[in-house]
Amino acid sequence: MSLLRFRRRMSEPSRTVLHADAIDWLRDHPLQAGCSVVASMPDVSEWGVTLAAWKPRFKEAARLCLRATPPDGVTVFFQTDARAEGRWVGKGGLVLGVAAELGVPLLWHKIVLQRPPNTSLHARAGYSHLLAFSRAVTIPGSHASPDVLPDRGMIPWSHSMGTRAAVRAMRDIRAFAPATHTIVQPFCGIGTALVIANRFGFHALGIEWNRRRAEQARTLTMDEIRAADGERLERRQRRGPRHKKSEPQTP
Ligand SMILES: C[S@@+](CC[C@H](N)C(=O)[O-])C[C@H]1O[C@@H](n2cnc3c(N)ncnc32)[C@H](O)[C@@H]1O
Repeated sequence: MSLLRFRRRMSEPSRTVLHADAIDWLRDHPLQAGCSVVASMPDVSEWGVTLAAWKPRFKEAARLCLRATPPDGVTVFFQTDARAEGRWVGKGGLVLGVAAELGVPLLWHKIVLQRPPNTSLHARAGYSHLLAFSRAVTIPGSHASPDVLPDRGMIPWSHSMGTRAAVRAMRDIRAFAPATHTIVQPFCGIGTALVIANRFGFHALGIEWNRRRAEQARTLTMDEIRAADGERLERRQRRGPRHKKSEPQTP
């Protein structure tokens, strides 16, 4: 192998996915300088617990992500509010509360639309929160980016963060957190954000406790994301709209 090819291969961004409990892992592994964290933490339904049991666990996961991020790194959360036990579960608010408690400043708060405005959904919000925090990184107003994203981008799985949301996060990490060389993604699912991190030249470390998803995340490619997203859209078109548009009734 030529020296040039060897050097290129050595500098290729790596991807490692651990099959492990992300909460235990974050507790046991303080992150080194050069890491930023991107997380989409599990919903009440994914942990199969009551709302009362889920909430402190969710907040502890947010706390661990924020604490694990070095001061010159960024912590990004992608969270979708939901309905559980007849109540609204405001995950964006919970994450903001934890960051305020730890004194980690908010860099930006974006809304990512999941459905067109004026659509009623039964179990989840039609939007997600994309939130970025950092202790030392700042972004000048002259470099502001849109606050409302029209959709998640391509999603190979219904729970995925989506390529557009991930690109938004990586772009700002690359531009404003130059010390970052590795993106750590606890609860990485099938690894959409890890693929995007690699495309931005970052090494990527995912942690996922579902063995099958962890395996998928190790090898997921952009072509597979594109194909799975296309199949998902086709299925949706065949099924027709499942959610009705709401028209407020005049009292
Ligand atoms: C909201 S999904 C994340 C989806 C991911 N952002 C993507 O784009 O594919 C949450 C993921 O966390 C995983 N998970 C739940 N509890 C976990 C834990 N304690 N440790 C590691 N992974 C966990 C679930 O298996 C699920 O894949």
